[in-house]
Amino acid sequence: MPNDKLNELREKSEQLKLGGGQKAIDKQHENGKLTARERVLKLLDQGSFVEIDAFVEHRCVNFGMEKKKAPTEGVITGYGTIDGRLVYVFAQDFTVIGGSLGEMHAAKIVKAQQMALKVGAPIIGINDSGGARIQEGVDALSGYAKIFYNNTIASGVIPQISVILGPCAGGAVYSPALTDFIFMVQNVSKMFITGPDVIKTVTGEIVSGEKLGGAMTHNSISGVAHFVDDSEDECIERIKKLLSFLPQNNLETVPEKLTYDDINRVDEALNDIIPDNPNKAYDMKDIIYTLADSKEFLEYQPYFAQNIITGFMRLNGRSVGIIASQPKVLAGCLDINASDKAARFIRTCDSFNVPILTLMDVPGFLPGTTQEYGGIIRHGAKMLYAYSEATVPKVTIITRKAYGGSYIAMCCKELGADMVLAWPTAEIAVMGPDGAANIIFKKDISEAENQAEKRKEKINEYREKVANPYTAAARGYIDGVIEPSETRKRIISAFDMLSGKRETRPVKKHGNIPL
Ligand code: HXC
Repeated sequence: MPNDKLNELREKSEQLKLGGGQKAIDKQHENGKLTARERVLKLLDQGSFVEIDAFVEHRCVNFGMEKKKAPTEGVITGYGTIDGRLVYVFAQDFTVIGGSLGEMHAAKIVKAQQMALKVGAPIIGINDSGGARIQEGVDALSGYAKIFYNNTIASGVIPQISVILGPCAGGAVYSPALTDFIFMVQNVSKMFITGPDVIKTVTGEIVSGEKLGGAMTHNSISGVAHFVDDSEDECIERIKKLLSFLPQNNLETVPEKLTYDDINRVDEALNDIIPDNPNKAYDMKDIIYTLADSKEFLEYQPYFAQNIITGFMRLNGRSVGIIASQPKVLAGCLDINASDKAARFIRTCDSFNVPILTLMDVPGFLPGTTQEYGGIIRHGAKMLYAYSEATVPKVTIITRKAYGGSYIAMCCKELGADMVLAWPTAEIAVMGPDGAANIIFKKDISEAENQAEKRKEKINEYREKVANPYTAAARGYIDGVIEPSETRKRIISAFDMLSGKRETRPVKKHGNIPL
């Protein structure tokens, strides 16, 4: 081949690697951000990245755009591996016209989405963009719509991960919102539908970009994002960890990881973890860490709706999703946000064949007008729906309270749990002994000489008769009562037994989850 042809290719390729040029790269670094190419190379296994569509160009001729070059069209796309497993990636390049999205930029992303779907590989999208390329008008809007459509088609088929590493504003936020997981980084990520300037103009409200749409806002208040980190490097490591808990697509299972943790490990400390006083809190995370292989637990939405804990762990090397009450926060009550968080996570696990472990200590749904007016009925129903719909193996452990509707919402047997085991401290009842005694023994208590004494006596009577695991066990509503110390080996055994589970449902177009 003539040397000039090779040189031409090499020169063009080198030029493209510089994105928007050294000045723009320096500015990106000054702003504490990596460039799109640096991000992709850090994320993927060394030497595995294969770029596609590097030579794509825009064809806009409005407002002098015909004279403007946009190397790689402001987005780097391609495939590679993470821990040896195939992934597709796209990373918006802020150094090129602010990473703004025009017709051809969108076309590159759509091609990556469709290829990932075709080969059944996860796709990771790194967002760092000024939004729709203003010069391109409706061509840009059309591009976004195609991306949203493909996000939806791929939903439940391949894991879709969004990483916000810069601005992500206006309608652009809806691609991440349609994906399975959103990662954000403190002081780097910003997500909002309308920015601080527009808000000030329209409503007069003054708010900073960070407070409006920064990483902690979306991780702790809005619940839009699922993971937060202090730096891009830490974020990249967390993405890799998350992928290790997921399969490549909905037709595969998660690769098992060799564990040296004893599957029959007995933890005596668990026998003493529930306080004598049933109204006293304890930290459910202590139990989660004790049960997990090598005490490893990746928490999902750790700062949002902390009254429920969600996340991934391994049991005997197998990936398992956990939904657990947190008695330390709001006594572990279910509320609107907890219901949304849990329901979404249950559906994420079920989509990707990850078995579900539920740890229940739930006194009820949170009472109050805020909850009722906010639609706790509608939101709580999402949990019932998500658990009932899930066909992956489901194991439930009742550690203490299991009251009323919330007992059902935390995956009791009739909601589809394949195995329900209770600790001796379990109280399975329509409501707590105090409330129940006040209602059904109202007359006895009010007529008693010493009302306080009578109330105590009746509460104890109710607890002995109903608020224990044995009434439920006598009817087969639970499968057994176990020593807390043996929980790890019992759940591992249950999931092993359930590994061949098959469950079919009536054919339908799709269900109608209450939204
Ligand atoms: C075209 C854009 C652009 C855009 C940035 N640039 N955003 N060009 N369309 N949307 C260009 C800038 O003109 C500049 O070009 C370069 O990118 C870098 O931008 P700066 O403003 O210099 O960077 P910075 O100061 O860091 O500010 C970043 C920013 C700001 C906050 C994102 O650029 C900004 O406010 N951009 C507009 C955001 C916006 O309103 N987008 C539309 C949202 S609505 P030069 O040549 O000077 O280097 C939307 C609808 C989507 O996206 C609907 C989907 C359904």
